[in-house]
Amino acid sequence: MARDKTLIVGNWKMNLDMHEASLYVHQLAKLVKNHRDVEVVLAPTALTLQSLSLQVNYRQFKLAAQNFYWRDSGAYTGEISASQLRGIVQYVIVGHSERRHIFHESDKDIRAKVQAAIRNHLRPILCIGETAGERADGETHDVLHDQLIGGLANVTSEELEQIVIAYEPVWAIGSGQNAHPNDVSAVIRTIRSQIKHLYGPRAADAIQVLYGGSVKAESASDYLALPDVDGLLVGGASLEAHTFNDIIKKAHKGSSLAKNIEGGL
Ligand code: PGA
Repeated sequence: MARDKTLIVGNWKMNLDMHEASLYVHQLAKLVKNHRDVEVVLAPTALTLQSLSLQVNYRQFKLAAQNFYWRDSGAYTGEISASQLRGIVQYVIVGHSERRHIFHESDKDIRAKVQAAIRNHLRPILCIGETAGERADGETHDVLHDQLIGGLANVTSEELEQIVIAYEPVWAIGSGQNAHPNDVSAVIRTIRSQIKHLYGPRAADAIQVLYGGSVKAESASDYLALPDVDGLLVGGASLEAHTFNDIIKKAHKGSSLAKNIEGGL
């Protein structure tokens, strides 16, 4: 998908049971107006994916899995594969910092998951970001570089078109301490230049890059107005339908604003 669509992803994490999830989607569906320039993606818990896949109108919302295992089938107790998610979700979140840090997922696991997603025609949202300590030590660029190389090894230029990158500084996630838009802009420029180094200028220009980390309805526009930011990965603020809809509305306005700036208006 080209960068002409702003992507707003709601990551519910381990929140909302089946009943709450269904009510939420019912409520959100009534609030959200379809805009050609905005794609809304919901990432509920695995338990609710199948029932929500029957409930949502895919023209209004796409679905994402928060996690999956990279093998397609076999004796892997408790796991769900990307091939089982086909037809239910369109996106998968890969390498979220909670997976990296709480569940000790390595770059090797993450790379295998990116491959599995591509193999199964699901769009991976590859999350990368530095911890507070790495930031304080001036290691942000190196960390992002390693995470990009780690996640994208073996991905061809053609396959890269399926991938979305989410820049999520670990210290900003769930902390209420969102990153300054100027810093986000600088880091995302670095990410694009690293992509340019790996895949060339066209790929660097075409790849969708999101920001995530304590985004609220009040701060969403600050990020969406940045020409390098193509959308948001929202955790806590996606759990309430009205709040999430406020963010989605800003994405519509944000896209027009960015276009106006690019168009020199
Ligand atoms: P947050 O989570 O918006 O609650 O900080 C973002 C994320 O983890 O994707």
